[in-house]
Amino acid sequence: MLHLAPRITEAATYIRDLCPITPRAGIILGSGLGNFSSQLESTTTIPYADIPGFPAGSNVIGHKRELLCGTVEGVPVVTMAGRFHYYEGYPIDNVAFPVRVMKKLGIEVLVVSNASGGLNPKYKSADVVILDDHINLMFRNPLIGVNDENLGPRFPDMSSPYDPELIEQAKKIARENDFEAHTGVYGAMTGPTYETRAEYRMLRTLGADMVGMSTVPEVIVAVHEGLRVLALSAVTNLCRPDQLEETSGQEVVDAASIAEPKMTKIVRGVLAGL
Ligand code: HPA
Repeated sequence: MLHLAPRITEAATYIRDLCPITPRAGIILGSGLGNFSSQLESTTTIPYADIPGFPAGSNVIGHKRELLCGTVEGVPVVTMAGRFHYYEGYPIDNVAFPVRVMKKLGIEVLVVSNASGGLNPKYKSADVVILDDHINLMFRNPLIGVNDENLGPRFPDMSSPYDPELIEQAKKIARENDFEAHTGVYGAMTGPTYETRAEYRMLRTLGADMVGMSTVPEVIVAVHEGLRVLALSAVTNLCRPDQLEETSGQEVVDAASIAEPKMTKIVRGVLAGL
């Protein structure tokens, strides 16, 4: 990873030239928060393709490919409209590379959103889940390779990757706004297939409350970089092994858009409290 530092600096310098704010938070908009961009004020938009060192494009339905700088609740933020997924063919460290660039720009907090399949039988479609832990079933780790001690430790602690204070704040915001937000464990699979019945059964047995194809690489790098992380998931399909219905990408996007106003309330509230 020693080669990383100059690449991070080059990308961050390019972004800073176009957008001379120091962001306090970075936000990765997954399927659950795709339209959050409209919440930003005084926005500068930078296509990923223009940023030196950034992986090229993201082409998942409901995902764009732009970095946005602006303010939300008066807080300067940098926002990724569209993320990189391992299943698109990017090396796993590239999937999480933008997190390092956002840290270089000055963020202290990373907010990540995603869509997921609900394994916990209590979950309903379009429910919001605040991640309080994960299981990395991608079996790929973005920190593999030579470690740059200037970026973070060789063996990062993972006892609490999701910031307990931010989780509490998120729960409080949901309560104050009269909607339910669960806390749960996210199981990360590579995709791009959705899972079989037997795999959903396995994931539940292992202790996952929901399953998705993103987030964990970015969270691992955020922990490596010493960032406080909040991750929110929109439950888009119910994974009941014994009565499983077909899942489509469109169904996932549609259910995520129902969850989006709740996710937006949480993100705005958390940012306002920074
Ligand atoms: N599995 C994996 N990823 C997902 C799912 C799912 O069921 N739903 C949304 N993203």
